[in-house]
Amino acid sequence: MDQTGQKRENWGSRIGFIMAAAGSAVGLGNIWRFPYLTGMNGGGAFILIYLFFVFVIGLSIMTAEFAVGRNSGKAAVGAYKSKNKNWTFAGVIGVLSGFLIMGFYPVVGGWAIAYIVKSLTGLTAAPEAIGDTFGAFITNPVEPLAWMALFLVLNVFIVAKGVAGGIEKAGKILMPTLLTILILIAIRGMTLEGAGAGLEFLFKPDFSKVTGATFLAALGQAFFSLSLGMGCMITYGSYLNKEENLPSNAFIVTAMDTGAALLAGLAIFPALFAFGIEPTSGPGLVFVVVPSIFAAMGGIGPVLSAFFFVALTVAALTSSVSLLEVVVAYLMDERNMARKKAVYISSTIMVIMCVLASLSLGAMSGVTFLGVGAFDFFDILTDKIFLAIGGLLLCVFTGWFVNKEDLRKELTNNGTVSFGLFEIWYNLVKYVIPVAIAIVAVAGIMSITQKGLMIFGLAVIFVLGLFSKKL
Ligand code: PFF
Repeated sequence: MDQTGQKRENWGSRIGFIMAAAGSAVGLGNIWRFPYLTGMNGGGAFILIYLFFVFVIGLSIMTAEFAVGRNSGKAAVGAYKSKNKNWTFAGVIGVLSGFLIMGFYPVVGGWAIAYIVKSLTGLTAAPEAIGDTFGAFITNPVEPLAWMALFLVLNVFIVAKGVAGGIEKAGKILMPTLLTILILIAIRGMTLEGAGAGLEFLFKPDFSKVTGATFLAALGQAFFSLSLGMGCMITYGSYLNKEENLPSNAFIVTAMDTGAALLAGLAIFPALFAFGIEPTSGPGLVFVVVPSIFAAMGGIGPVLSAFFFVALTVAALTSSVSLLEVVVAYLMDERNMARKKAVYISSTIMVIMCVLASLSLGAMSGVTFLGVGAFDFFDILTDKIFLAIGGLLLCVFTGWFVNKEDLRKELTNNGTVSFGLFEIWYNLVKYVIPVAIAIVAVAGIMSITQKGLMIFGLAVIFVLGLFSKKL
């Protein structure tokens, strides 16, 4: 029971939970961001570092988030607060990260919806023209805003329906749809003549391009992609029943997320090389390359392109729903707000942030704060600072402030299921991962250009640490 006397919501089934958690993990991070980061960071070497971070750091943190969430039965802030009031700030940083990510994520979600329509109605042109079309589209002051609004309305609709009725149902239908579409497109791409160069780029590491910034990019991407470091998996874990095996669920979700990212790589790079397009084109990569690939294919190309953007929209939606849920769950748990009211209030503020983020790419591109526009501000602050620090704080909290035997009981369901790696996991979380994140963060921050933004982010965390006991 919570303070309002209502029973806490629960997932309806195991598969429902896995689809929802994997739905949160698999998103724009996998299909939009992973390919362009891989392209910009030299391919195979980046992927190797990324995979190491995912399976050593990411999987351990996801297991910890599930354990803390289910053990406390509370969302991000409540989970920390219920064990130690001094740690409330760590949960607050999480909710703040969710909020900030929702300041740009729906903008890209809106692009994805727009490109379903655009694929079918006239993107069939030369790659340069498609690049120009994308540039003109995202800098237009009105059109992307309308698509972003549509994307946010879909979120509001799903989250307002609640955990089992909305989020879980959406995940169960949308996730299999997404995987099927990606597999079909990957097969088509890999069977093109000249596709082998793409596979080589993806899987043959070139370490000459690796710097401190590459490690920070890979770490940030691991957190972003697995939805870690901001209490999302704590929140989802809090809706889990006591019979679920947490380590095995964490492994399944991590494996699905990694599989989806690699699949997206396979859907894009072989075809990209087959058509002789440059892999380093940045955030526009999927929006320029994918339509170009399919346009060059002729025939049913545009239809496949539309399918790809359906997949991207679907992936984005099941993730943004989880971001919104982190904020909504905080308002429900800690502020006693009714679900619908929490959804409407938080999404209204998100619309305003998204408008700023979208306009920062065009009409308001001259307006900057600490050297960046609103879109980059929300993105860099979360991806490069808040998520990694959120993950570090979670590890320190779990390793040093939660009773070890309580953790063992939580992860083995009171001794009824086995978790043979418990001691290894515990030592990773308590000692190794906090130190590893700290090293990567320091090396990354030294080699990053937006120093002002970094200092600002760290100052925010410090101030929250001082004042957030009241939240
Ligand atoms: N994991 C999502 C993606 O890869 O697109 C983004 C995300 C969702 C990040 C939820 C963080 C989060 F809590």
